[in-house]
Amino acid sequence: MDLLKRITTGIYLLTVQAGKTRAGMIVSWVLQISRDPLLVMAGVRPDRYTHKIMGERNSFGINILYEGQEELVDRMEKPLEERFEGVEFFTGSLGTPLLKDSIGAIECKIQRVIKPGDHSLFIGEVVGQHFLKDMPPLSSWGLGKLYLG
Ligand SMILES: Cc1cc2nc3c(=O)[nH]c(=O)nc-3n(C[C@H](O)[C@H](O)[C@H](O)COP(=O)(O)O)c2cc1C
Repeated sequence: MDLLKRITTGIYLLTVQAGKTRAGMIVSWVLQISRDPLLVMAGVRPDRYTHKIMGERNSFGINILYEGQEELVDRMEKPLEERFEGVEFFTGSLGTPLLKDSIGAIECKIQRVIKPGDHSLFIGEVVGQHFLKDMPPLSSWGLGKLYLG
């Protein structure tokens, strides 16, 4: 048995502005890594389209999903053109698209990218926190889908 499967995480929609449109994907490798300054980290595999766009931008959003948004998670596996059909966003101070329907959205300014292994760790300084809905957060355990890289 792979014990790493028992490391539970939250489930998030990572969003980024891509020219006139937007890109985004489900991520579970997200963690707060500093209190002062307030830093979070997202682990993204270099072959993701979202990774390419993140490399061109200076910000990204972490949208905290709630229990009941499993369908949204499935939808994010669709091709990018269909992924965001009917999904509503608002814009953060750095121009990041942020999900309207979530527990909340964290906007981050990319401070550093480190590549210790097969995922890039995007370290972002939190520049905005938008609390939207008080709901129990979706977790990898509750979702029943574990991301192991
Ligand atoms: C529950 C779940 C968690 C995921 N977590 C991550 C993650 O932390 N990092 C990552 O690179 N991919 C993760 N993925 C895979 C991406 O969401 C998926 O490959 C996505 O289609 C990439 O989209 P893109 O190529 O348009 O950027 C996860 C997928 C699921 C279903």
